[in-house]
Amino acid sequence: MSETNIESILQEHRTFPPSSDFAANATIGSMEKYQELYNKAATDPEGFWGELAEKELHWFEKWEKVLDWQPPSAQWFVGGKLNLSYNCLDRHLTTWRKNKAALIWEGEPGDSCTLTYAQLHRQVCKMANVFKQLGVKKGDRVGIYMPMIPEAAIAMLACTRIGAPHSVIFGGFSAEALKTRLVDAEAKLVVTADGGFRKDKIVPLKIAVDEALADNGAPSVENVLVVQRTKNEIQMQEGRDHWWHDLEKDASANCPAEPMDSEDLLFILYTSGTTGKPKGVVHTTGGYNLYTHITTKWTFDLKDTDVYWCTADVGWITGHSYIVYGPLSNGATSLMYEGAPRPSNPGCLWDVVEKYGVTIFYTAPTAIRAFIKMGEDLPKARDLSSLRILGTVGEPINPEAWMWYHRVIGGEKCPIVDTWWQTETGGFMLTPLPGATPTKPGSATFPFPGIVADIVDLDGNPVGENEGGYLVVKQPWPSMIRTVYGDEARFRRTYWEHIKPKNGQHFYFAGDGARRDADGYFWVMGRVDDVMNVSGHRLGTMEVESALVSHPSVAEAAVVGRPNALKGEEVFAFVTLEGNYQGSDALKSELMQHVVQEIGAIARPGEIRFTDVLPKTRSGKIMRRLLRNLAAGEEVAGDTSTLEDRSVLDQLREG
Ligand code: WTA
Repeated sequence: MSETNIESILQEHRTFPPSSDFAANATIGSMEKYQELYNKAATDPEGFWGELAEKELHWFEKWEKVLDWQPPSAQWFVGGKLNLSYNCLDRHLTTWRKNKAALIWEGEPGDSCTLTYAQLHRQVCKMANVFKQLGVKKGDRVGIYMPMIPEAAIAMLACTRIGAPHSVIFGGFSAEALKTRLVDAEAKLVVTADGGFRKDKIVPLKIAVDEALADNGAPSVENVLVVQRTKNEIQMQEGRDHWWHDLEKDASANCPAEPMDSEDLLFILYTSGTTGKPKGVVHTTGGYNLYTHITTKWTFDLKDTDVYWCTADVGWITGHSYIVYGPLSNGATSLMYEGAPRPSNPGCLWDVVEKYGVTIFYTAPTAIRAFIKMGEDLPKARDLSSLRILGTVGEPINPEAWMWYHRVIGGEKCPIVDTWWQTETGGFMLTPLPGATPTKPGSATFPFPGIVADIVDLDGNPVGENEGGYLVVKQPWPSMIRTVYGDEARFRRTYWEHIKPKNGQHFYFAGDGARRDADGYFWVMGRVDDVMNVSGHRLGTMEVESALVSHPSVAEAAVVGRPNALKGEEVFAFVTLEGNYQGSDALKSELMQHVVQEIGAIARPGEIRFTDVLPKTRSGKIMRRLLRNLAAGEEVAGDTSTLEDRSVLDQLREG
C-alpha cells in the first residue's frame, strides 16, 4: 500500500456500530460480552478452549491435556479422538437438521442442486468407500483438483472421514503447478473432473492431470477418480483412471468415520512464500475443527435460518474453512457457486443472492472493486433485502470500497466483518463480531477471543500508536500451522525467526505490516515480505521469477507487485535476456504465456520490461524496493547509495 493510502486510512474516523436490533439478536451482542470472552481466553486459555471443545464438538474420546506448547510446536487436545467429517455430517443426522440443506449448489450453465445433510452424508460415505476400494488408507494423501461442484466438498469430506489427508489444488493452477504439489505431497490418488465451467469456457482439468502425470511425472499417483461435469473429450487411461459415476453405483453408503487423533494430519494446503517453491501448510484435526467452527459461529453470528455464501474457491484456505468445514460443522446451509461475473451475465452474483435469499455474503475486496466498476444498477435491479451480514477477506479493503459495499450491497443495515487471517492461521485472527464491534471502514478491528495479537518491532517490542510494525501473534491458537510439510526447518525459519524477543519468547510472524490507532483498532497494511497479493491471491515474487528464468530467453528476472486499482497488485517483471535474444512484443507475450503455463493464469504478468541490467547492491542483491518504486511510476525513495551502478536507474526508467 502506498504512503498516500496509508495517510488517508489513518484519517478514517467514521465508525459504524451495529444497530440495536441487530445487537439484541446476536450471540455476542456487545463489546462488554466480547471483552469478557477475550479476557477469559487471555487469563485461562486452556479453560476457555477446553470448555468450547467440550460444548461444540463431538469427541470419540476426550483429550488428556488441552495444550502442550513446546515453542514453536503446539499440540492441542492431546490424546483426544474425533473426526471432522463426523462433526460436519453424522452428528446432525440425529437432529432435525437431517433434512436441512447442507449445500446449495448453483452451477453453470443453469444447473443447480441442493443436498441435505442426509444426502451429503450418503454421497460422502460412498466416495469414502470408493477411495478405500482404490487402495487409499488412513494417512495416504489425496490430491483434489476440481471445479466448484459439490463433488469437490464431497471428496474433501470423504478424505477426512477415512483419515486420508487431502491436498486441494486450485483448479486455476497449471499442469506444472499441479505436478509440483502432487509430488511434494506424494499423493496416491487424484480426484478431478473432466472439466469445469469458467466464464462461458471449459477448463480442461483432466487434460492437465494427464499432463502432470505424463512420463511418470508424479510417481506416487496410482489412481485418478474422474467426475463427469462438462463432457468434453478426454482420454481415460485403462487401470489408472476411473469414472466416479461408474464406481458410485455399487459403492456402499455405509462408511463409519475413522476416530482420528486430535493431532493427526488433516490436510496440506500449498501457499506461496518468499522462495520459489510453494510450501505445504500442515493443519491437524482437533484444533482446526474447533477453531473454524467457533469463528464461523461467532463472526457470522450464525442462525439456523441463515443461507450463508462464501464466494471463494475450495482450492484456497477460505474455501476449506468457510465454505466447507466451518459452516457444516455448525449445521449451516452453505452455498457453493461455480460461476463468476462475466460479460454475458455481469450481475449473476446478485441473481444468486435473490434466488436463494442469501443472508450472509462473504467475498474479497478485489471482487467488490470489480462490482463498483460494473455499476450500481446491477445490484439495484435485484432484491438484496435478505442480506444481514457482509464479509470481506484477502487483502486490505480500501475505505471507498468498504463504503460502497456498506451502502449499495448492505443497504446501510448490514454489519461488515473484515476478517484478517491466512492459510497458516486456519481461521479468522482479527475480525469484528457483527453484533458487538463498531466497525471502521478499512480496519479488521480487534483480535478474535483467544488470539493475542500485537504490532512489534524486530526485537518484539510493541510499537507506538499509529506507528507501523510487524503483525505478530504471541500465544498459540488451536488452528495454527503445525509445520511445513516435509520441511520443519522452513517452518521455523519462516514464521518464528524474523522477530526475536530478547526474553526468548516465540512470536508467530505473519508477514504483514500493521498499525494500531488511538482506539486500539488494527489496520493491516499488507505484506512486508516478497509476497504479492494479486486479486486476493498470494503469489511469491521468487515463484514468478523462477517461472520466467525457466524460459530459454531469460537470463535474469526480478518481479515486484505494482499497485493496481482493481487487483490490488499486479505482477510486474523486469527481465534481462540471454545474449542472442532481442526484446520484442512477441517475446513479451510468449513470456507471459510461459508464466501461465508454469503457474497459472493468476500469475500472468501485467507488464514485462526488458532491461540490460538489474539494480543490485555491491553484494549482488537485487534492490526490490527500488524496482517497486519504478514499477509504480514513483520517485525512487530512500537510500540508493549501495547501488552498484547508478546509471542503471536511468536505463530502467526509460524501459
Ligand atoms: C492478506 C487468505 C488485509 C494478508 C485468508 C495475509 C488481508 C494474506 C486480509 C493471506 C484482510 C487476508 N485485510 N489483508 N482482511 N485477509 N489478507 O494465505 O496479507 O491466501 O497475509 O489467506 O492475505 O493470504 P492467504
